[in-house]
Amino acid sequence: MSKTDALPVQDHEVTTETFLEDVYDGFDRDPRWLPSKYLYDEVGSKLFDLICQLDEYYPTRTETKILDQFGTQIAQCIGANALLAELGSGSSTKTRLVLDRLETPAGYVPIDISKEHLIQSAKALQDAYPDTEVLPVCADYMAEFVLPKPSRQPSHAVVLFPGSTIGNLEPDEAVSLLERMARVTGTAGGLLLGVDLQKSPEILQRAYDDSEGVTAAFSLNYLVRMNRELGANFDIGLWTHQAHYNEEIGRIEIGLVSEDDQFVHVGDRTFKFAAGELVRTEHAYKYTLGSFAALAARAGWKVQQVWQDEQRRFSVQYLEVD
Ligand code: AVI
Repeated sequence: MSKTDALPVQDHEVTTETFLEDVYDGFDRDPRWLPSKYLYDEVGSKLFDLICQLDEYYPTRTETKILDQFGTQIAQCIGANALLAELGSGSSTKTRLVLDRLETPAGYVPIDISKEHLIQSAKALQDAYPDTEVLPVCADYMAEFVLPKPSRQPSHAVVLFPGSTIGNLEPDEAVSLLERMARVTGTAGGLLLGVDLQKSPEILQRAYDDSEGVTAAFSLNYLVRMNRELGANFDIGLWTHQAHYNEEIGRIEIGLVSEDDQFVHVGDRTFKFAAGELVRTEHAYKYTLGSFAALAARAGWKVQQVWQDEQRRFSVQYLEVD
């Protein structure tokens, strides 16, 4: 048996009942919305990996380049013997750029809501880094969870939150998460974050509505998932993906538009959707360096270092508790 066959997984997988309650709750609001975390079932996670490879989706390759170019400085900020916990770890691709440069990390805790994807990535990572203990946690990182203890005592904990996923949270939610992370790391630890920056609406809109339709497939998969898991009967052909940059607020507003008046059954309820009605599935907030520092300060964090690409499209930031 290889070491990875026995990977211990802390499991808080979301139940179908919770998924159904969240959908009912979102559909009872005006305007309607669906929580973005359910975009990431197995198919959704794979589609998101494809989005990350698109030319038009600049965040992944820009952040990867920054992590690669400034990896040594980043590793110095994190320090030796750290326990790394990654929120929404997905395929852990960028993690490798950090792990490659780190001095004797005490362990790596990937935290992700998509169990199969998490286990596969954790196994691949454990194989690639046999000296670093990998302790996966299947959880919604917005809920409470406890960091598993590695067998070697870490000197401190550092939370990784790459990809600008912080932008998918409403600002108040982002502050609560950052406050909770401050409790997880304490004053000795740190936070390494990817933060996407405000830029021209054209670039942003193309990134979230690509010409190959991968992002559209990613959004529509939400309906496919509800049909499969919640016994819903969405007619996928009657919905379209929409992404719009709201320049005033500084956020991309992503959703599904009903192409006609229609009734849809979900669980034991029926919902009427009007032609042209938008059901929001995701927001992606874009910050300036100043607006992000102010948000982090509300949660007690101080930005210590910022690394950016030449075009200043994206930032990687290291924060410590103030
Ligand atoms: C996961 N997150 C950072 C992505 C983003 O850019 O907001 C999610 C995404 N949705 C559509 N494209 C990408």
